[in-house]
Amino acid sequence: MNSSGSEGPHPTARRPEGLQSRGESRALVMGAGAVGCWIGGCLQAAGVPVTFVGRPRVLDALRAHGLKLTDLEGSTRSVPAGALDLRESVGGLAPPALVLLCVKSGATTGAAAEVARAVPPGTLLVSMQNGVSNAAAAQAAAPALTVRAGMVPFNIAELAPGHYHRGTSGLLAAQDHALLREWQPRFARAGVPLQLHADLLPLQWGKLLLNLNNAVNALSGLPLRAQLLQRDYRICMAALIDEALAALRAAGISPAKLTPLPPAALPGALRLPTAIFRVLAARMLRIDAKARTSMADDLAHGRATEIDALCGEVLRLSRRHGTAAPVNERISELVRAWPSDPRARSGAELRAAIGV
Ligand SMILES: NC(=O)c1ccc[n+]([C@@H]2O[C@H](COP(=O)([O-])OP(=O)(O)OC[C@H]3O[C@@H](n4cnc5c(N)ncnc54)[C@H](OP(=O)(O)O)[C@@H]3O)[C@@H](O)[C@H]2O)c1
Repeated sequence: MNSSGSEGPHPTARRPEGLQSRGESRALVMGAGAVGCWIGGCLQAAGVPVTFVGRPRVLDALRAHGLKLTDLEGSTRSVPAGALDLRESVGGLAPPALVLLCVKSGATTGAAAEVARAVPPGTLLVSMQNGVSNAAAAQAAAPALTVRAGMVPFNIAELAPGHYHRGTSGLLAAQDHALLREWQPRFARAGVPLQLHADLLPLQWGKLLLNLNNAVNALSGLPLRAQLLQRDYRICMAALIDEALAALRAAGISPAKLTPLPPAALPGALRLPTAIFRVLAARMLRIDAKARTSMADDLAHGRATEIDALCGEVLRLSRRHGTAAPVNERISELVRAWPSDPRARSGAELRAAIGV
């Protein structure tokens, strides 16, 4: 396989799971944005060949500046533009051993179907997306692929064209698969260790509980850390989590603990006065002063948000199990109304608007 990925047609016969790894180690990032450029860039900086499929805005920046990766621990890595395999579509690709699906939830179906048309049946695709339904949506759109769910616990922001910054910490996780076990040493070498789990759902819900703050953050207009340091906003987040926890209890799902506090203790801790919260949640607050959620960026750029994959998922679970989630419903409406009412709200205004 050459680095331009321009070799001839790939074999189309289905191969047993795991065999794709024989002599093939290329990863394909489908959706080169914050997460895709970060994870793909780390792999490439560690010597793994990576193909990045993305939009002209992102690819042009990478062509002009190369890829710069920084993190909150202060490390910097770079991949020069000439070393990047950048494409606007998946057509004509050499078969990748691993596909990392890194698009936003609304683009899952289209992106997975595009990949399926271009890679051999059986190719492993890992959804590196938030929410709990993207892997199933990708599998439904691409039945010939082997799809696994993944979970990215940290925050990545594009600080400048081609410059991606990890602003929080945590370990990547995915549903177990034999080929992913073979990839684990490469992820570890790349500084993005990958943990494998028989069942990822508890972790995905654990992450989704924290992501319920994305809507609060987006509507606050503030950087994440500054927003979390205001009790009124934390009370909004606590109310969203309360409703999710009630739905999860009714559904018999135990969300994983992704912070020093267990999920059930989060709402109480969030409602504490800021001086106490600051001490109790010191690790949770280890966030770059500039970090924002991607939903905030989506609103700022007039893009579709992932509200349906986050608060919407809580609403669906609560409806299925007979619990109530009016706060998740109201905040979803505010996020959807943003294009016609683009107004950052103070904590008190947001509390009043969602009724908490
Ligand atoms: N950013 C974070 O800190 C973070 C952390 C953890 C998890 N996540 C999750 O990771 C996922 C990706 O988030 P992100 O922030 O990396 O999103 P992002 O920066 O918007 O990157 C996704 C990129 O993929 C592009 N794209 C969509 N469909 C495509 C297609 N068919 N072909 C080529 N490119 C395509 C998008 O373009 P368009 O804008 O034109 O669609 C966008 O440029 C989301 O589920 C998010 O919730 C994000």
